[in-house]
Formats: sequence, C-alpha cells, structure tokens
Amino acid sequence: MKTIFSHILFTITCIGMIACQNKETNAMSCTNNQSTSKNQTLIVYYSYTNNTEEIVTDLKNLIDADIIEIEPADKNLNYEANNYRIGTEQLNKIKNNPNDENSYPAIDPIEIDLSKYNTIIIATPLWWSQMASNMQTFLFEYGKEMAGKNIGLIVSSHSSGISGVEADAKRLIPEGNFFSQSLWINNSRHSQRKELLKQWLEDVDYASLQTETVSTMYITVNNHNMIVDLENNSSTKALVALLQESAITYEAHDYGDFEKVGEFGYTLPQNNEQITTEPGDLILYQGNQICIYYGVNSWNFTRLGKIRDTDSNKLKNMLGNGNIQVTLSLEQPNAINNLYVPHSTNTGTYNITGQQLKQAPTQGIYIENGIKKYKK
Ligand SMILES: Cc1cc2nc3c(=O)[nH]c(=O)nc-3n(C[C@H](O)[C@H](O)[C@H](O)COP(=O)(O)O)c2cc1C
Repeated sequence: MKTIFSHILFTITCIGMIACQNKETNAMSCTNNQSTSKNQTLIVYYSYTNNTEEIVTDLKNLIDADIIEIEPADKNLNYEANNYRIGTEQLNKIKNNPNDENSYPAIDPIEIDLSKYNTIIIATPLWWSQMASNMQTFLFEYGKEMAGKNIGLIVSSHSSGISGVEADAKRLIPEGNFFSQSLWINNSRHSQRKELLKQWLEDVDYASLQTETVSTMYITVNNHNMIVDLENNSSTKALVALLQESAITYEAHDYGDFEKVGEFGYTLPQNNEQITTEPGDLILYQGNQICIYYGVNSWNFTRLGKIRDTDSNKLKNMLGNGNIQVTLSLEQPNAINNLYVPHSTNTGTYNITGQQLKQAPTQGIYIENGIKKYKK
C-alpha cells in the first residue's frame, strides 16, 4: 500500500478574527473590517531541485497561508539520471492507467483537513510537459475533496509550456473552481518570480477571493439542525465574525406565542426596520437578543435571516415548549448524531436536516415515517 507524508511549515491565523474573541466592543469592530470571510488558503507544493520551493517561499511572504510540502516516499530517486528515465516511467504509468491508484508513485503520509480552506494553490514542477508525478499522487488522493474550492496553479518548468499540467490539474480536481489564469514561471523568468507572483495575485483578483461572504449558518435545537439563509447586513457580518471564532449557545424562552427569544451574550449592530414576521424569520431584537419566529408579529427590529424549508408546525415541533438551548454555528453540526426525527405524527420522507423530500434518496441517510434509514 502506498504511503504518504508531509510537513506543515507554518500556519498563520487570521489576525482580524482574533479581534473578535471578546464580547461587545470587538463584535462591533469586526463590523468595520467586514470580516465575514472563511478565507484560509493552503499552498501545496512539490519541488525536486528547489525552484518551486523558492517560488513558494516568496509567495508565503505575499499571502497568509498554510503550507504543505509533498515528499516522495523513496528519497533516493535521481529523477534526472539516464535522460530523466524514472520521471518518464512514472508519468507513462499514470498516463496508461490514470484511474488506478497503483499507477501513482508513493509519497509520504499527509494528514490534512481541507474543509477549512476555501482556496488551494498548487505549485509544481513540469515534467515532460505534465504535472510532476509526486504532485499527481497527492491530487489523486485529495483532488475530489477540493470540489467547489478556488484552485490556483503555479508551474515551474525549464522552458516548456504548461497546458499539459493544466489538463492534469483539471483531471485530478474535476470540480475545482480554477483561477482565471495559471502562473507559469520558466527558467528564464525564475529570477523575476517575486514580481510575477505579485502581478498574478492581482490579475486573478486574489484579494476578492478572500472576502467571500458567508451566506448561511446553522441553528441546532433539541438535536435538530436547521439551515439559515443570512441577510447581508452589518448585523450578520458581526455575527458571522463571532461564529468564526466558535459556536454560540444561549437559552431561549417563548414569548407572545410567536417566538423563542433569548439573550445570546453579545451585542450586534442593529439595522432596524418595520417588519411583519413569518415563521422561520430569525430576528435581532435590541441588538442583544435573538428571536426564532414561529408566528406573526410586527415590530421595528433587524432581520438576521430565514430558516430554510420550514413552517409554523414544523418549527413548533422542533422547538418544543418552554426554555430551550439554541446553538448557532457556521459548520454543520455532526448531522448523523443530531438526526432530525420528525414528530411521530408526521409521515413522509425527510433528509437529516429535517427537509421534506418528495421521495427517498437513492443513497445516504434519510428518515421515513419517523424511522431513520440508510441506503448504500
Ligand atoms: C523528470 C523531469 C522532467 C522534466 N521535463 C521537462 C520538460 O519536459 N520541459 C521543461 O521545460 N522542463 C522539464 N524539466 C525541468 C523542470 O521542469 C524545471 O527544472 C523545474 O524548474 C523544476 O522544478 P523544481 O526545482 O521545483 O523541481 C524536467 C525535470 C525533470 C526532473
């Protein structure tokens, strides 16, 4: 079996988010810097003769990122010997059977949680107009997990053009959201790498990739997870900044037979307007209380968002009577342990977040007539 390895050189944490650890004052200051991003970048590189490593060293001075280096399991291979014979053999093996993991050379083990990165930059040498085989091994393992992420590609070659490496990247990361252009640094431009990197980051508008707005969060009550589509205002931006630090749990009680309300321990900026609520509305009241509406009320307050696919009955079933613990979070809580099992009188088919389905899914976990089921 293949072995894989890496070492993480360093991690830089978003300083703007640390400012949100304390309560009221800092929640407000996060509003000012519009810190709603889940803006972690990972740089993954492989380098045999250190050109790519030099490029990555300069890149890490320009952006905040975690870095992983890919290392071949066999440290004694001379890829350049005999007219690059080993590299040629490895690449031919991949070319002949790209879907077989045994085609890819062994690399040292990597423990990496890709879920925290929205952007991944791959830096690799070009070998025989293809992506160096050791980097291909890593992407064969992890490329499918990169679906939907922003993917940047930097290629170092002696002189050959990089279209073959781009094709390899797209094959191995089939659902990556690739930057508008890759960065090719050939031997004659290697000494200008700092300027080339700066220009590339500008050309692909790297800064705007890093301010992706968070548009959903989760509410968990009585082990039921609900998805909230967030409003885009300074109140939600400050709330998201707090939730990027950690989930928030607070106690809520019934009020007026139309809401569960509770102080959640922070004060957010208000964007009050006259609102007539609907079931599922998530409302900020006086800046420091969050209300989950299952009924109708008219007042001057701030809309934070709307719980997806719900109605008054479903919400009342989920929220129950009396005081409850409400947890707000950005990541989906462990859905399998927190299955929403509809009220026993509810018939029908539901997914694990409690959304009603027209029919059972062909795969995965679902709930039918109150019974949890699983299809392979
Ligand atoms: C096995 C192998 C094959 C290579 N094939 C090519 C090639 O086809 N065209 C090219 O311009 N450079 C080729 N190179 C040179 C590398 O792409 C170039 O030196 C690159 O800068 C190496 O990056 P590194 O120092 O990070 O390993 C090859 C290098 C090796 C080891």
